[in-house]
Amino acid sequence: MTTPDSSAGVLALAPATEAPDAGLIEQLANQLFQSSFAQGPTAHAAPLAEPAAEWQAPTTLDLQAIPAGLVRSLALVPPSRGGGLPSPAASQAPLEQARTASGPSTADSPGVGQVPAFWPLEGAQVPFPSQVPAVPAAPEAHAGPSGQATTGHGYGFLNASPQAPRAATPAAITAPSALSLDPQLVPDLTRGRREAFDARAVRRDFPILQERVHGKPLIWLDNGATTQKPQAVIDRISAFYEHENSNIHRAAHTLAARATDAYEAARDKVRRFIGAGSSNEVIFVRGATEGINLVAKSWGAQNIGRDDEIVVSWLEHHANIVPWQQLCAETGARLRVIPVDDSGQILLDEYERLLNAKTRLVAVTMVSNALGTVTPIEEIVAIAHRHGATTLVDAAQSVSHMKVDVRAIDCDFLVFSGHKMFGPTGIGVVYGKAGILEETRPWQGGGNMIADVTFERTSYQAAPNKFEAGTGNIADAVGLGAAIDYLDRFGMDTINRYEHGLLEYATEGLLRIPGLRLIGTAKEKAGVLSFVLEGWRTEDVGRELDREGIAVRSGHHCAQPILRRFGVESTVRPSLALYNTFDDIDALVNAVRRLAGAR
Ligand code: ALA
Repeated sequence: MTTPDSSAGVLALAPATEAPDAGLIEQLANQLFQSSFAQGPTAHAAPLAEPAAEWQAPTTLDLQAIPAGLVRSLALVPPSRGGGLPSPAASQAPLEQARTASGPSTADSPGVGQVPAFWPLEGAQVPFPSQVPAVPAAPEAHAGPSGQATTGHGYGFLNASPQAPRAATPAAITAPSALSLDPQLVPDLTRGRREAFDARAVRRDFPILQERVHGKPLIWLDNGATTQKPQAVIDRISAFYEHENSNIHRAAHTLAARATDAYEAARDKVRRFIGAGSSNEVIFVRGATEGINLVAKSWGAQNIGRDDEIVVSWLEHHANIVPWQQLCAETGARLRVIPVDDSGQILLDEYERLLNAKTRLVAVTMVSNALGTVTPIEEIVAIAHRHGATTLVDAAQSVSHMKVDVRAIDCDFLVFSGHKMFGPTGIGVVYGKAGILEETRPWQGGGNMIADVTFERTSYQAAPNKFEAGTGNIADAVGLGAAIDYLDRFGMDTINRYEHGLLEYATEGLLRIPGLRLIGTAKEKAGVLSFVLEGWRTEDVGRELDREGIAVRSGHHCAQPILRRFGVESTVRPSLALYNTFDDIDALVNAVRRLAGAR
């Protein structure tokens, strides 16, 4: 049953589990509509009244005013397409169609004029689906850094007679009986307001993207290495230092309380973002690399011994290879490597053949940083568990591109870095299942992680504190929380669909260039386009693109084994993020085509 969550100060809806009483709903709906019509846009539930002479069609309802029975019956459905997004079927659509779906010339306000399709939790203002007059065109449908109200579109809308014609004027409003209420399971509504996705507007949230490089507007396509930071993140870190800065936990004064609250709030945002069951399962570290090292040096040293086996994939970057090699060298364990096919996808049959009673750990990436391959991570984890192995998932390249849900994946550990998801450098996360963290000894010792210290004996705090020795990166944890808030504005599914459209467009454009070889062509890919160009050294391609203002990484991407698997030592690697546009892709493809033509 859906229930308002007043404690959170917003309306949170949980899946309906009982059928509502249709008669009651219709009666309530009639009342609601009529009272709303009577009072205009700010109508609250009120006695029925005659329509006022200057009556205006309501554009929003105040949820607090909706009778509980009706609230429980409101159904939310995903829009068939988000404003400005390529449709879900864009993968089959011709290039031009995908391009114009959020193309540069007319798409500044995608979806403006459509019926608003968002479920704004904060302030509880709900669009009135079948009665909303056409929204006048606005310069942009996306809130800037200040986060003011928008005309944005989000994830769900009230399912009020979706087939009924949309009335443009009050006179055309149909009777309330046209409302049909179909209780449905709802998407996750706890993540705040979802805004329309408009990459050009998103771009304006990132001050550095206004930079010029060699006199050209900066096109940032080095997101696999690090992402740029929205103003909201920059401001949040400044605000921390201006108003909250203190060490946490230990000092009993006001700023210590503020800093502690901000830090723990960020931890809880991470918990929600990755779907963990408890914020005690979220450990702050410096980044994914430190996270993997933490697991290797704590859980690994405790649980892996001589002749045990650790399985990684050929796709891993050095951070998910070297710590395990070090552990093998120290313990006498063996490292085994899952091969990939010629597209760069993991060979699951070969993987399963590698597993045996000695396998202690399977450590695999969710997305390859060098090729962009999206691995079948849930299957990989399930197979490992069938063989009694513990699992670690490297989510460094996935968190900013797709939904990462640790409980759906069922991994034992998961790591990622803040700086690859629009947060600051120097902050990252290890997720660990509560039971495993409880059994695992800490890696580093010092302040913050202890419960009691005498010269004879020290006892530790419970997780996560026992893994956070010393003063952590408090301000940047708070900044990471702000980055999560930023991503939550759109929702990861929306971002994923948008980037997928970009990836397909870019792939098709690059593949048309004579002499260009794409490295990594798996069916399931995230926004990475590694390539080599005949007649050109990769570093020279990188330098030439830089002259055009286009930033890409060229080199081995800290993933030499997988590049060597494809017979190359380095590639040029454009990598995408939510603020990249189809214009950026055009600029890249045209620049590479010019280079190809010059040799
Ligand atoms: N792993 C980072 C990259 O892919 C450094 O560029």
